[in-house]
Formats: sequence, C-alpha cells, structure tokens
Amino acid sequence: MGKVFAQQLAERGFDLLLVARDAERLGALADQLALEYGVSADAWPADLSRDEGMRGLAELLAKSDRLMVLVNNAGFGTKGLLADRPVSEQATMLELHVMAPMLLTRAVLPGMISRREGVVITVASVASFMTSKGSVNYCATKAYQRVMMESLALELEGTGVRAQALCPGFVHTEFHQRGEMNTSWIPNFLWLDAPRVVRESLDAAFGNGPTVVVPAFQYRFIVGLFRFTPGFIRRAFQRRYGRSRT
Ligand SMILES: NC(=O)c1ccc[n+]([C@@H]2O[C@H](COP(=O)([O-])OP(=O)(O)OC[C@H]3O[C@@H](n4cnc5c(N)ncnc54)[C@H](OP(=O)(O)O)[C@@H]3O)[C@@H](O)[C@H]2O)c1
Repeated sequence: MGKVFAQQLAERGFDLLLVARDAERLGALADQLALEYGVSADAWPADLSRDEGMRGLAELLAKSDRLMVLVNNAGFGTKGLLADRPVSEQATMLELHVMAPMLLTRAVLPGMISRREGVVITVASVASFMTSKGSVNYCATKAYQRVMMESLALELEGTGVRAQALCPGFVHTEFHQRGEMNTSWIPNFLWLDAPRVVRESLDAAFGNGPTVVVPAFQYRFIVGLFRFTPGFIRRAFQRRYGRSRT
C-alpha cells in the first residue's frame, strides 16, 4: 500500500521521501515515480523497527520545513498463537506499529503546526476494532494506531493540521503472503484493491473527510456491526476472522 500511496501522492504533485528496508526496490520505485510524474523522489532505506532506523528518520523529518504529508504505513502480520511465536518477532511488531509511528508523528507535528498545514495518515486496520486469536499483538497495535490518530485529531483541531487512521479490511498486497497466512477462506467481496483504499484515504485527508476512514461499504457495515452487536455474535465472527492467522 505504501507504493500506491507514493504513486497517488506523486500524481497529486507531491515530492516524495520513500522509506522501507529493501534499498534496491525502493531506489527503483523512486526513480520510476520521478520519471513518470516529474516530482522529486528520494529513497531512504531504513528498518523502522530498530531504534537507529526510526530515530534517524525522525531527526531528518523534524528538520524539514516543507513536509506536508506523513504516511505511517510500514507493518506486518504474523500467524499463530502468542504462546508459540518468537518473543523477538512480537517485540518487533510493537516497535514498528507503535513506537515508530509515535516518534515519526511527534517529529513532524511542530513544523506542521507552525506552518498551519499538514496531514498525518496512519495505516491501522479493521482489526483495530476487533479481537482475534492468532492476532493478539496485531489487533492491539492496530488499536493503538487508530486511537492515537483519533486522540491526536482532537488535539489538532483549529491548527490546520489533520490526523487520519486508515482502517482497511483485506487488501491485495504482499501482506498475507509475507505472513504465510491462509487466505483461501476469505470471500471475494471482502477483498479490496490498494488503489481504491488509498484514494479513499487521500480524498478524505485533503477533502475534510472523517478522522477514521474505513474504505468500502461492506467494511463500514462490519465495523458498525461489531460496535453494536452482542458479544456472542462478535465472537463467532472473530473465530472465523482468526482462522487465517492460527
Ligand atoms: N493488506 C491488508 O489486508 C491490510 C489490511 C489492513 C491493514 N494493513 C496494513 O497496511 C500496512 C501496509 O501493509 P501492506 O498490506 O501494504 O503489506 P506489504 O505489501 O507487506 O507491505 C509492507 C511494507 O512495509 C515495509 N516494511 C515492513 N517492515 C518494515 C520495517 N521494519 N521497516 C521499514 N519498512 C518496513 C515493507 O518494505 P520492506 O520489506 O522493504 O521493508 C513494505 O513496503 C501495514 O501497516 C498493514 O498492517 C494491511
């Protein structure tokens, strides 16, 4: 989804700083976007789950006097029960999903507020509204991301700066393959394309949309259902949703 954010922001004329671990892939994408859209695009290879990676980037961003949009997108999922998973992997998830977006967001806020413009988008998930076996820390960290953006949006009222929690359902990306998750049980109508998800996010961010963006009617319905239905129905759905992760 990060690639699609980069494409659509370039389409809107934004210069880009792209961050991920795979330097070669990142550099190729930066070159391609610069050529295709006539914007400036730089690659900044970094592991955002590591202290030096997130702090180095935060220092760079804090110095920028023209940063308009921060997209906290990097993330991953795991499969399996917490008791069976390596501690280091779960700790990495907390660093990447919690500490990195907090540090990066904190780094860009003073500049954005003083310029009275800017948007922070954090890619959370529909999972932020749920609890699920096989996704203990995924659900918990995504809930952190959503709540952080919701609370921040309140703090930013009247500053000209906006915060958004993007909460997609299942999106066609490399996410499930990387996490070795079984997706065969997921019905077609629950799959979304990344360009559509990103367009809803950016349209809301630049068009006075809501702080919490849940793309697609079917997911707004599911989230509504989760918030207002009794526990036994919720748990039945959660058992099903958790299947790919256990
Ligand atoms: N796909 C879905 O169904 C879905 C649904 C809801 C929410 N989300 C969320 O959407 C976000 C994007 O995921 P995706 O679906 O686009 O998955 P993806 O295709 O696997 O992409 C993940 C991206 O994060 C980067 N990344 C991973 N670990 C990193 C690290 N330690 N440091 C820096 N960059 C790192 C990866 O690049 P490198 O490997 O090169 O570092 C890659 O660009 C995640 O936060 C995910 O939780 C996904």
